Amino acid sequence: MLNKNIILSGFMGSGKSVIAKLLSIKLKINFIDLDNYIVQESGLTIPEIFNKSGESFFRALEHKYLKSLSKNQPLIISTGGGAMTFKRNFDIVKNNSIVFFIDRNFDNIFEAIKNDTNRPLANKNSKENLHNLFNLRFDKYLKYSHFHVDNNKDIDTCINKIITLIQE
Ligand code: S3P
Repeated sequence: MLNKNIILSGFMGSGKSVIAKLLSIKLKINFIDLDNYIVQESGLTIPEIFNKSGESFFRALEHKYLKSLSKNQPLIISTGGGAMTFKRNFDIVKNNSIVFFIDRNFDNIFEAIKNDTNRPLANKNSKENLHNLFNLRFDKYLKYSHFHVDNNKDIDTCINKIITLIQE
């Protein structure tokens, strides 16, 4: 029985939530989407939090709820695309969780997020700005994760890779 959380990190649209749901079914471990949890606890949508209180307030909520949720291992936690770019977030989970960076190429990501009104950062930025953000974050995703997993082929390959890694 796994005694750590499985945390999925990576840019918006990289497939974290879908992978988390499928992993949850395969491994019979509960799954929580950190963004959905923030929405549930605050009673506000993600765009409402960004618009009313700003991104730094959202980052503080993200940190607070990641900290409390990650104490309930084993849990599968899918994080928002900014969460695991912060060292302070990796620091609170690095010992009780296995963090997987889900890597998908930017063009595939952009197709998945370009019309999404529930993603304030995708909404307000041009393709070029988002590509710059993706490049800026890439090294952080690598640094603040235990494993780097490709999600450019079929999703089952990605899920099976994660399962192999946690069994090693
Ligand atoms: C964000 C990604 C979103 C959400 C928020 C900020 C980011 O999550 O947490 O809009 O900074 O990349 P997804 O990765 O699920 O889109």
